[in-house]
Amino acid sequence: MMRPTILVALPGNDELVSLLAHLTGVGHARLQLHRFPDGEIYVRYPVSLEGQTVVLVCTLDRPNEKVLPLIFAADASRELGATSVGLIAPYLAYMRQDQRFKPGEAVTSQSFANLISNHFDWLVTVDPHLHRYHHLPELYKARSFTVQSAPLISKWIKSNVVKPLIIGPDVESEQWVAAVAQRADAPYAVLAKTRYGDRDVQIAIPWLEHWWYHTPVLVDDIISTGATMIQTLGKLKEKALRPPICVAIHGVFANGAHEAILGAGAERIVTTNTIPHKGNAIDISELLAAGLRDAINP
Ligand code: R5P
Repeated sequence: MMRPTILVALPGNDELVSLLAHLTGVGHARLQLHRFPDGEIYVRYPVSLEGQTVVLVCTLDRPNEKVLPLIFAADASRELGATSVGLIAPYLAYMRQDQRFKPGEAVTSQSFANLISNHFDWLVTVDPHLHRYHHLPELYKARSFTVQSAPLISKWIKSNVVKPLIIGPDVESEQWVAAVAQRADAPYAVLAKTRYGDRDVQIAIPWLEHWWYHTPVLVDDIISTGATMIQTLGKLKEKALRPPICVAIHGVFANGAHEAILGAGAERIVTTNTIPHKGNAIDISELLAAGLRDAINP
């Protein structure tokens, strides 16, 4: 039997919380937040938390403004009688600065993991950006549950794309691209990316002409500035392949990125709903519901 549990939505996460509540039968509420004129915030739970597992639901794109309310809410829930406190963060932030590239830099992935682990008992997330770390427990002391979207992405591609050729923009993407391609019964290619700055990316492309009758499907875990997708689209255009479809697990879309990718020639941009966006076409709520069940029934 499931322990008494309540899902609590932080602003912007109501739709996902409703889906999770429907799939799991767990009760739900909405955290009340108020911003005072001086910029400080007020946090209140509108329901009793006594004796419950409290599950805060907050996707962590644009994390800086979200994290302080989240920490206040986690602390308050313990004071208000929660027996344990978990976090569902479909998109997990601060995974990319996972080493000190230049002397003096902060390794923010580890600091962020420490902050979350110090306030939450467990964490459920979707495909975190693991590069130099291979498993979340190497970073997070809190128990972590990772769910993988590759089967759903493959399913979407199989049902919506004629003769797909799956393309990963860099070696890091091979882990998703290979899994997606295998399940979609499609060939795949991995390109070589060198990043020189936030929006300065160079892509080297192999010989792809023999795939001219396929539809290129660019698959990456994150779209942030869109530079990776835009550069890749430019290179594919030179090869006269069909207009590509861009698929990302997490559509962060920094200012103007979505429009810029379409302007660079993408036929369509498709994302999962780890971050709410008009391009969401792949629903990961069932994966998160399974992750939630694992987390609360260890
Ligand atoms: C890189 O390490 C990630 O897998 C993505 O390729 C990257 O985050 C995409 O960023 P942007 O859209 O800014 O090129």
